[in-house]
Amino acid sequence: MKQVLLPVRARQAALFVLLPTFLLLTRCRQAAPTPTGLVAERAMVVSAREEASRIGAEVLARGGNAFDAMVATEMALAVAYPFAGNLGGGGFMVYRLNDGTVGSLDYREKAPLAAHRDMYLDSLGNPLPDLSRKGATAAGVPGTVAGIFAVHEKFGTLPMEELLAPVIALAEKGVRVTAKQAERLGGVRNDLITINGDSIPFAAESLEGDTLKYPALAQTLKRLAANGRDEFYGGHTGKVLADFVQARGGFITLEDLKRYQAVWRDPVVFGYKDLKIISMAPPSSGGVTMNQILKMMEPYDLREMGMHSARAIQLFTEAARRAYADRNYYLGDPDFVEIPRETLVDDEYLKQRMADFSFEKATPSNAVREGSLQVYESAETTHYSIVDTQGNAVSVTTTLNGAYGSKLYCTPLGFFLNNEMDDFSLKAGVPNMFGLIGAEANSIAPEKRMLSSMTPTIVERDGDLWLVVGTPGGSTIITAVTQTILNVHEFDLSMQQAVDAPRFHHQWLPDMLVFEPEGFSPAMKDSLRLLGYPINEGLTPIIGKVDAIRVLPDGRLEGGADHRGDDTAVGF
Ligand code: DON
Repeated sequence: MKQVLLPVRARQAALFVLLPTFLLLTRCRQAAPTPTGLVAERAMVVSAREEASRIGAEVLARGGNAFDAMVATEMALAVAYPFAGNLGGGGFMVYRLNDGTVGSLDYREKAPLAAHRDMYLDSLGNPLPDLSRKGATAAGVPGTVAGIFAVHEKFGTLPMEELLAPVIALAEKGVRVTAKQAERLGGVRNDLITINGDSIPFAAESLEGDTLKYPALAQTLKRLAANGRDEFYGGHTGKVLADFVQARGGFITLEDLKRYQAVWRDPVVFGYKDLKIISMAPPSSGGVTMNQILKMMEPYDLREMGMHSARAIQLFTEAARRAYADRNYYLGDPDFVEIPRETLVDDEYLKQRMADFSFEKATPSNAVREGSLQVYESAETTHYSIVDTQGNAVSVTTTLNGAYGSKLYCTPLGFFLNNEMDDFSLKAGVPNMFGLIGAEANSIAPEKRMLSSMTPTIVERDGDLWLVVGTPGGSTIITAVTQTILNVHEFDLSMQQAVDAPRFHHQWLPDMLVFEPEGFSPAMKDSLRLLGYPINEGLTPIIGKVDAIRVLPDGRLEGGADHRGDDTAVGF
């Protein structure tokens, strides 16, 4: 985690010294936690790499708004963080304008036209997970380029050429390999070579301090800047992409690309105590599932239980267990399936869901479904949070799904393709790479979007913008975002402390309470074991990489850039 302050002009600074005093006098709330992350006066970007946060923040400093910065940051991550940043994947954006208007954009991948329900099953009906996880067959129709152009068309103020120029320059100049990146690349190098041959840029061993250049990606970005969205969804770039995928046995055609559309959707909006939470609606499960978890917990005094006390963790776990069971059964692409959204978050329904909960013992998950399930460690999505000088906020989570997606690198265009098809339920009751099992609502169909857990979120307090938050982490995204909000709201942590605090996770099945290895009391875990909670501390060294921003009572911004990655807050 790093923090960078861009230079700020003196007059702007003076304004923001007076503003706090005024705001302090007009507020009567108890003292807010002292910030420990980067504090900036006017605007901030927090993302997985300093290079991307800096490019986004410089757009803001030049007078661009949060949406301009989103376009630049999204593309900069594709260059600086190819692990998850992408042109070959998809994502979700939740926004809140400074007048309180909220909305969201779905630029999730879609199943190709040639897709069908049993496409990843063998003749005996057994799943073929390699087909949905690796190489060309795993890729859904990418949505990211449609996403940035939709955002730019609706809200952008600076020309696309200007937004992409620093990104193209970065791709040409190259990006320094960090220690964490070198380790990640080392871990997938054999897979990358098996899938792509040894001539892709990542085939040679990368050491910390090396520079990786992306000339093919720079050319692709130049064509997008010059020719617009259709360059990708029908033009030369689209043709190259479709031919490339098909030559390797994949399903994406030019027709698929031509038909792809990003979709503006109403976000999930709900109250939790004195907060208003705005998050992503289906085809992401993030908003609905977080809504269920927090509403099931709301009647309890969490603050009094204490952060990371056995009771607080137990309550969270039981709420999450029930919410994930609903998630896996009811949620899917709303353009294809009927989702009982109102019932799922109805107060009476959620009260009933918790009726059998007792602090005396764990509720076993296998009463609902059983099977030998496994969760894989993974943190290959990426989240960034932006607040601009006007107070507009943008919360974006974007992904290739697995590390470097399908690991298929489209050499002529310079980017990786997603393996998002694995987020569908390949077969009822069979877990995906995050151990999530799915049902009919998330079965494969042509042009359907696969269910996601991505949870880009914005939180208001007293009608004002308060938090912008999100994370990667597959199925753990929803619990990590929820815990981060609770850490600030219930336990008075600063934004940075809330992001850095150790995390735990439960997702109904497998019935396993997963803890990050460091930071939880052994006595607390023992007491949960005695109540019947199967505990796992070895599954994953980290749960999520949260990047968040808090608006302080005086209007300044505190960044929370996760120490688990190379994440960096840049502001001014
Ligand atoms: O959309 C989803 O829920 C997953 N494809 C997200 C993948 C992810 O977070 C990867 N990192 N763990």
